[in-house]
Amino acid sequence: MQKSRIIIALDYPSAEAAAALLAQLDPTRCRVKVGKELFTAAGPTFVSKLVQQGFDVFLDLKFHDIPNTVAKACQAAAELGVWMLNVHALGGGRMLAAAREAIDSSAHRPLLIAVTILTSMGPEELAQIGLGGEAGEHVRRLARLAQEAGIDGVVCSPLEVAMLREHIEPSFKLVTPGIRPKGAAAGDQTRIMTPAEAIAAGSDYLVIGRPITQQPDPMAALAAIEKEIE
Ligand code: C5P
Repeated sequence: MQKSRIIIALDYPSAEAAAALLAQLDPTRCRVKVGKELFTAAGPTFVSKLVQQGFDVFLDLKFHDIPNTVAKACQAAAELGVWMLNVHALGGGRMLAAAREAIDSSAHRPLLIAVTILTSMGPEELAQIGLGGEAGEHVRRLARLAQEAGIDGVVCSPLEVAMLREHIEPSFKLVTPGIRPKGAAAGDQTRIMTPAEAIAAGSDYLVIGRPITQQPDPMAALAAIEKEIE
């Protein structure tokens, strides 16, 4: 059986705050994402513990620095035993290549994913940093740059999946947040798709936070999403 395509976002301020949810999660039925907030509060020991408990961990720290620094950070993340980690494609081709090389020379080789354009940025903000014009064009260009550097995939909006699938080879992983099951509250997400729609469009992994974590019965919410995807 293929392991779960669902990555649950552990958006919590501390290890203690995440504990109640983690106690209910079955590591064979989902993967988990640790982002900047939880990592900064709980640290690498917490991540190692999740790995020891059998969880596939996506370490979402979006590294973006000079090539040497990013390479070392990727190496340190790989040594924690994480399943997936990410860097910013805007760091450039040399930085992406350095990240690739660092992971390839690690004993443990997690999936290496790039972030293209942050989905929080609208046209005006993008123009302010010299990225005017069509956002999709920048996403496409950066995804191609990542692929050329040997990166395994990108994080993108579910609405960009179909477009990227046309331009990028099929093995390139597409990881999509902005997922809302039918009837779920959108919250602060605007460009959303249901789990089934995102998978049908060509998404490989779904990053889902509140529609699971904020439910009275998170495992029931997960089961409903699994059923929808099937
Ligand atoms: O609760 P929700 O399902 O909106 O959580 C989505 C997760 O994906 C959060 O951890 C959020 O930071 C992350 N994310 C996102 N949009 C992006 C990149 C990451 O929502 N473009």
